[in-house]
Amino acid sequence: MTIPNLRNILFALQLLLVPIRAQHNVSGEAITTRFWDCCKPSCSWRGKASVSQPIQDCDINDAPHNNPNQGSGCGTGGTAYTCNNQQPWAVNDTLSYGFAGVFLTGHPETEDFWCCACYQLDFTSDPLKGKSMIVQASNSAFEVNKVNRFSLAVPGGNTTSQDACSRQYNVDQSVFGATGSGVGSLDECDRLPEQLRDACRWRFDWFQDAQYPTANFHRVACPKEITDKTKCTRNDEPAFVAGKPSASTVIAGSSLLAGVPMLLASLLLAQ
Ligand SMILES: *[C@@H]1O[C@H](CO)[C@@H](O)[C@H](O)[C@H]1NC(C)=O
Ligand SMILES: *[C@@H]1O[C@H](CO)[C@@H](O)[C@H](O)[C@H]1NC(C)=O
Ligand SMILES: *[C@@H]1O[C@H](CO)[C@@H](O)[C@H](O)[C@H]1NC(C)=O
Repeated sequence: MTIPNLRNILFALQLLLVPIRAQHNVSGEAITTRFWDCCKPSCSWRGKASVSQPIQDCDINDAPHNNPNQGSGCGTGGTAYTCNNQQPWAVNDTLSYGFAGVFLTGHPETEDFWCCACYQLDFTSDPLKGKSMIVQASNSAFEVNKVNRFSLAVPGGNTTSQDACSRQYNVDQSVFGATGSGVGSLDECDRLPEQLRDACRWRFDWFQDAQYPTANFHRVACPKEITDKTKCTRNDEPAFVAGKPSASTVIAGSSLLAGVPMLLASLLLAQ
């Protein structure tokens, strides 16, 4: 047996036997905020986490960029923006899907922990008690770092002094509403670029214009409807696919793994 062959076999074995551990199986209490700054999402840069590809970002015509190294349209002279389909929508009366900037305490400055992971938020404050959202972490929310936070990506839900939205959509930045709070009413959603109006209305409809609702969160498998939009799946995702009990996966993996040194030794001796 040649050395390259042996390497290939060992590599294949390793892929098969490494236990799929739910290392990033987190849960807890969180606060929520809103944002829509049109900037390139932080998880769109190359190398943020172990993923299939970074979160899809878009050019000024909402066409997907094929270059994760393209700079953000936010102030750096780059041409990458948030794709307009990364906005929230209601699945039914009690469940919505969407995207968020995430910060988890205990994992400061480590975007590799959350980029492209999905979390279920079960709202714990009125008027949203009894409703849930599943969001994919497309961004990071580092400004507040004492509590777990999900900043929900809601068009017209908040705006900053940066004028990336006006550049992306060639409109006056003021249509995105006030700094810190966004548009003030359902009617004002009509002033947004057409592609963003439904999700702006979602805030006043399904979301009931809730102000800073709190939630219990836990990691879940990403719905396909969400990853179809971002094209990003984490490499640890299989551990979270529904119906796959993590305990048995880990145990099976570990016991198989114990056989690897033996196998390795016998293959090497066969040289
Ligand atoms: C809007 O964003 C700012 C800056 O992150 C934040 O302080 C504020 O609480 C946000 N407003 C809402 C309604 O989420
Ligand atoms: C909403 O959709 C989810 C996911 O398909 C489902 O589990 C849940 O039962 C639905 N809720 C209602 C009220 O229809
Ligand atoms: C994550 O943790 C919860 C609560 O401890 C558990 O019920 C669930 O099975 C775990 N999921 C995975 C994929 O390990």
